[in-house]
Amino acid sequence: MTLAELEQKKAESLEAIAAAADAAAVEALRVAYVGRNGSIPALIKGMKDVPKEDRPAFGKAVQAWRAEVEAALAAKGGGSAGEKAVEADLTLPGRWFGLGSKHPLSRVIEESAAIFARLGFTVADGPELETRFNNFTALNTPPHHPSQDRTDTFWFGEDCLLRTQTSPVQIRTMMANKPPVRVICPGRTFRRDTTDATHSANFHQIEGLYVDRLPQKPVSLADLKSVLAYFAKAMMGDGVTVRFRPHFFPFTEPSVEVDFTCHVCKGKGCNVCKQSGWIEVAGAGMVDPRVFRHVGYDPEKVSGYAFGFGVERIAMIKYGIPDIRWLYENDVRFLSQLG
Ligand code: DAH
Repeated sequence: MTLAELEQKKAESLEAIAAAADAAAVEALRVAYVGRNGSIPALIKGMKDVPKEDRPAFGKAVQAWRAEVEAALAAKGGGSAGEKAVEADLTLPGRWFGLGSKHPLSRVIEESAAIFARLGFTVADGPELETRFNNFTALNTPPHHPSQDRTDTFWFGEDCLLRTQTSPVQIRTMMANKPPVRVICPGRTFRRDTTDATHSANFHQIEGLYVDRLPQKPVSLADLKSVLAYFAKAMMGDGVTVRFRPHFFPFTEPSVEVDFTCHVCKGKGCNVCKQSGWIEVAGAGMVDPRVFRHVGYDPEKVSGYAFGFGVERIAMIKYGIPDIRWLYENDVRFLSQLG
């Protein structure tokens, strides 16, 4: 084809597009000129047969033709993909993009906040970057305690760290408020743990704290147990309750570890609870007088309890998730199952 012939074809094509009466005609012309087997792609394929010295001018002319045809098609409501003509057909079924769903960790946090709200707890917040005082010292954790070690904690200099627990929010809350205080504090926490099926360097906790005035409103370990028993049922279902085992935490005295009845076997013993009937979920205890002194409360005039549990742990047992890493990979096949 000579350049003159090409100009002739171009004029014809633009005329035909301008004259097209409806979307179907526009689409037919699109296919004829710029479709995969249309005349313009055929010319481009045939370029190798054009004498070498004519090729640049010829190539330019073909590209210009293509651009003008595309513009003319678009002006008629068509398009290089013919998409617009298809979209204009309102009888076609819609496209389904799928619904998002709430992440299991968000579910556990929101559900916990709702359950504790019924018992009068509000939600308190604190920063992820903490001071040594709030994360350790005020919580009665001495400098030689292993949790302060460089191998356990992400430190930024002498006094600044990524909080290893949500317990520093207890300190912030008490320093900012007079008793009574009744809060839960959900949040992100960080430890230098090697990641495996049950550990992650970044995980979540929910802290709880209730402190009230003496002698009018003494707070006891029995109060703590009843609140956690209520939470266990509301979160895991009827038939689930709590037991306390003696333990040690620097910031509580006495301290306990808290188990829930295994929600799978309801206490009979199964693989999930390693035949014990119980699953460990939290640490708790009565706030240590030294902690009260650090925040300026008089331990003779107040008493209170505190607890802290792992959000991942609750989510894993509630939803039967065997590997903590699944919670961070954002694989839609996993996330969509709670839809
Ligand atoms: N901070 C503890 C931990 O990360 C959990 C904990 C235990 C929180 C006892 C408390 C408590 O408030 O009283 O292991």
